[in-house]
Amino acid sequence: MSTAWQLDSWRNQEIRQVPDYEDAAHLARVEETLRGSPPLVFAGEARTLRSHLARVAQGDAFLLQGGDCAESFAEFRADNIRDTFKVLLQMAVALTFGASCPVVKVGRLAGQFAKPRSAPTETIDGVELPSYRGDIVNDMAFTAESRIPDPERMLRAYNQAAATLNLLRAFAQGGFADLHQLHRWNLDFVKESQQGERYEEMATRIDETLGFMAACGLTSESVPQLRETDFYTSHEALLLVYEQAMTRQDSLTGRWYDTSAHMLWIGDRTRQLDSAHIEFLRGVENPLGLKCGPSLEPEELIQLIDILNPDNEAGRLTLICRMGADQVGDHLPGLIQAVEREGRSVVWSCDPMHGNTVKASTGYKTRPFDLILKEVDAFFDVHRAEGTYAGGVHFEMTGQDVTECIGGAQAITEEALSDRYHTHCDPRLNANQSLELAFQIAERLKRHRDHDAANGSKPGAAVA
Ligand code: PEP
Ligand code: CO
Repeated sequence: MSTAWQLDSWRNQEIRQVPDYEDAAHLARVEETLRGSPPLVFAGEARTLRSHLARVAQGDAFLLQGGDCAESFAEFRADNIRDTFKVLLQMAVALTFGASCPVVKVGRLAGQFAKPRSAPTETIDGVELPSYRGDIVNDMAFTAESRIPDPERMLRAYNQAAATLNLLRAFAQGGFADLHQLHRWNLDFVKESQQGERYEEMATRIDETLGFMAACGLTSESVPQLRETDFYTSHEALLLVYEQAMTRQDSLTGRWYDTSAHMLWIGDRTRQLDSAHIEFLRGVENPLGLKCGPSLEPEELIQLIDILNPDNEAGRLTLICRMGADQVGDHLPGLIQAVEREGRSVVWSCDPMHGNTVKASTGYKTRPFDLILKEVDAFFDVHRAEGTYAGGVHFEMTGQDVTECIGGAQAITEEALSDRYHTHCDPRLNANQSLELAFQIAERLKRHRDHDAANGSKPGAAVA
């Protein structure tokens, strides 16, 4: 890896998961258009998120990151965005109220279009075609024409991300996220369920508290924190031609920011030490995520941290662990011990989705709710045992009433998967399952915080 980072120095490194664009001139024109287009986020916002994540690294807040596995052009509708946002708000309230812990909210939204694939081609009934790589690259339909990478799709993805972000900003700051509205976030189909009822109970208790606060003069008008919320965006920085074109030099600091989202992460398939993805992302100042799968060795992790966070700044790097429920105990302790030994400040987050994908007898790709919960539990257990802070979770979820993951209190069966299986890529938690998980995690966080308060200790605080 060369020492001098440049906007395009990644192009000298080995690149994986890259589409094969046929028309270089067309690609160059699109890159030029993107370079001239307004940024989607501002450097100052990315810096604020970094400071919030620094609080998570220090054990004083919790990170909730969630949203679609892959956003799609076909599912681009205001109600889809609104409903996912509602469920994220509900989860955040459950965590904040249940555990008395500030929650940093980051969506897998407004830019999560590019997908890494396990194979470059896909074969159906003896026909082999290039794999679908997400709507920003090609089309999911299984025809030779659809699978040709089309640079024009980057412009459509950019425009969709801009419109999505515009709506999210309006929701977050325009009154919709006001805590006095929290009954309205409960979706109709969730209301009647066990989770919905539990949520209503909690909302009623919060209402009482808000009433008391209002009597003391603390209202939405006087306290902006009650009226609006901070909400950030993130996606996997996979399609580097797009990410490079969206990267701008901040006029205030002279530093480079990838303005396609507040936070970017590096996938488990593209995190090799000499990879183009690591090279590109080390040079941008946004907070970064690094997916850590079971094949990541502790020494390699430290080398990656050396590259991605050489100044050991809290909030710069979030390690998103996705081991698989049965592998957490084998692999996570070694990673944590190496990070502790080297005195590195990171946010530890748990993605219990990507290591727990199985094939149902009915042929669908699914994820059992029990395994998802088991991975979260194992993640918390290992951190307790190591004396470190389990700082966040990363979910593939939607506000829609889909049937993609089996189990949960709803007890979705393998046979029921076909009812509403809509994902463009991996199976997502539905609104009910997402809320159920949030309640479980809130209980766990509360237990830990109560226990630590009683003992005067705080995991995570030891690391600078
Ligand atoms: C993802 O988050 O959608 C993903 C592909 O994850 P991973 O890189 O961990 O496999
Ligand atoms: Co996924």
